[in-house]
Amino acid sequence: MWSKPLLAVAALALGPVNALWPVPQKISTGEKVLFIDQTLDVTYNGDSISYTYGYSPSSGSDFSSKEIVQAGVSRAFQAIFQDNFVPWKLRERNSDFEPDVYETKTFVKSIQITQTEKDDASAFKPLAGEVDESYTLTLSEDGQAVIKAKSSVGCLHALESFLQLFFKHSSGTFWYTPHAPVSIEDEPKFPHRGVLLDVARSWFEVDDIKHTIDAMAWNKMNRLHLHVTDSQSWPLEIPALPKLAEEGAYRKGLSYSPEDIKGIYEYGVHRGVEVIMEIDMPGHIGVVELAYKDLIVAYNEKPYQWWCAEPPCGAFRMNSTAVYDFLDTLFEDLFPRIAPYTAYFHTGGDELNKNDSMLDPDIQSNDTEVLTPLLQTFIDYAHGKVRDAGLTPFVWEEMITDWNITLGDDVVVQSWLGGTAVKDLAEAGHKVINSDYNFWYLDCGRGQWLNFENGEAFQTFYPFNDWCGPSKSWRLVYSHDPAAGLSKEDAKLVLGGEVAVWSETIDAVNLDSLVWPRASAAGEVLWSGRQDSAGQNRSQYDAAPRLAEMRERMVARGVRASPVQMPFCTQGDPSECGYTP
Ligand SMILES: *[C@@H]1O[C@H](CO)[C@@H](O)[C@H](O)[C@H]1NC(C)=O
Ligand SMILES: *[C@@H]1O[C@H](CO)[C@@H](O)[C@H](O)[C@H]1NC(C)=O
Ligand SMILES: *[C@@H]1O[C@H](CO)[C@@H](O)[C@H](O)[C@H]1NC(C)=O
Ligand SMILES: *[C@@H]1O[C@H](CO)[C@@H](O)[C@H](O)[C@H]1NC(C)=O
Ligand SMILES: *[C@@H]1O[C@H](CO)[C@@H](O)[C@H](O)[C@H]1NC(C)=O
Repeated sequence: MWSKPLLAVAALALGPVNALWPVPQKISTGEKVLFIDQTLDVTYNGDSISYTYGYSPSSGSDFSSKEIVQAGVSRAFQAIFQDNFVPWKLRERNSDFEPDVYETKTFVKSIQITQTEKDDASAFKPLAGEVDESYTLTLSEDGQAVIKAKSSVGCLHALESFLQLFFKHSSGTFWYTPHAPVSIEDEPKFPHRGVLLDVARSWFEVDDIKHTIDAMAWNKMNRLHLHVTDSQSWPLEIPALPKLAEEGAYRKGLSYSPEDIKGIYEYGVHRGVEVIMEIDMPGHIGVVELAYKDLIVAYNEKPYQWWCAEPPCGAFRMNSTAVYDFLDTLFEDLFPRIAPYTAYFHTGGDELNKNDSMLDPDIQSNDTEVLTPLLQTFIDYAHGKVRDAGLTPFVWEEMITDWNITLGDDVVVQSWLGGTAVKDLAEAGHKVINSDYNFWYLDCGRGQWLNFENGEAFQTFYPFNDWCGPSKSWRLVYSHDPAAGLSKEDAKLVLGGEVAVWSETIDAVNLDSLVWPRASAAGEVLWSGRQDSAGQNRSQYDAAPRLAEMRERMVARGVRASPVQMPFCTQGDPSECGYTP
């Protein structure tokens, strides 16, 4: 199939074999071509299952493993037959890389899927590590594909790996893999592989969120952290507190109804992506002032730097019974609606500025000694409510690192400040999520969003870099080991990580190209591990061609991911675009 023997050697070196993203823990592939068409038999635990493009499992929290797997099969077929691509960018310039469709062809005949254990209730809303996501996949030279997994989500991961083996032929009516036979044994390194999407700074349609869930599932990422409210806007409808979204959304109607929220959570469950909603408090919540008076201090206070990290500021009055009543109503409305679909709720807790309580007539202090007990009571109360609803609380690291709040052993602590924070938190026995802004903040490095008046401010802030530049290239994202420098024991407390998509200057228009494929790079670190099976850091030479292929696949499937390298690089051996010292 290769035009010249020499090319075949080069092609092997450039790695179209093992072309999966994220790379499986164990994979072997061959060089036999198998075609695939839409007549093959698919079975799930012995029952034949049909596939229909666009099929989705029935709505509701009474999940059927079979329906979930059937929908996974339908998506895989959609990706293979409808949304596939001819990999010219990944093959030598003008080479004859495609199999001959006029010769005798061997076709994939069947996919036999076996789920060896029943999904229990927690399989659809797992705590970290509660669901077994492993799978095996074999594809024999004569065209029998066999998938085995303990859970339905393991079956979904297997199907995502399966579809990545296939390309479209430029004839337009044939699809093939050049990699048979294939044997894969796979499981994730970290149980929490997330994207944080801030839907408060900018408005995102429900479809934008679902679209992001799709791309996450392709990358075997499994946690969508929705930062749903902040001081700038409250797009979350709470029927018991109707003014929140009426006054707090950027525009009437630009808000998530209970039906929308249910739809987003369900959509995630159907794809193995658990949604974790965050209502950030007691800071980052100024917008409530627009709807309910007397709950908030320091809203829109100037100069904003004295009161918060970015305008318009605003924090809960921490010694107010009205705030506690508000929380009761909010949580009693929201939690029963999300608890069927998730194990977690995030109460935020970042960047609480001590000055805010100086403006609270009941407190009038910025003294840690005064504020800490109030905050402790507040967190204990909120987390009590979270637990009463059957959920597990999440917080940002400042609750511990700045405030020394005592938290339950169940609480997951999200770290973003870098340095030794993750290590310190794990050594102190906390379960940790790594979102180190130096590596995994995808919004960074694109400049300031504030305006600066001509004159001194202009001069001071010129050339208007943002606080966390430079931008985090996929190579930098990929270099970050979320459990770096930890003992084996402490590393177990690092549940995984999240890349963050703060949306001051991101909306649906640039979302895809800023998130992908950089989130994919974190996805591989979190699924496969920063190191390979020999304990070596994974190489950019190995990653770049696979990521470039994944990028093409994502574009073909409707996500406008940025290019990894120009075709000059992706068409050649990776060493051609390697740095030579
Ligand atoms: C609190 O306000 C004072 C001015 O009154 C300011 O100097 C200080 O930096 C502020 N503290 C914080 C943490 O912003
Ligand atoms: C909090 O409120 C209670 C009841 O009004 C009051 O007794 C207490 O002094 C307040 N605490 C602080 C630190 O202001
Ligand atoms: C507390 O307020 C005083 C007076 O405005 C200010 O000088 C001090 O910096 C503030 N402390 C903190 C921690 O912000
Ligand atoms: C944090 O709190 C714990 C227990 O409440 C206390 O023993 C410890 O000294 C505190 N640490 C700091 C730095 O204040
Ligand atoms: C692996 O990568 C990390 C992070 O970039 C680096 O600190 C470490 O030295 C590397 N290890 C080896 C063996 O190259």
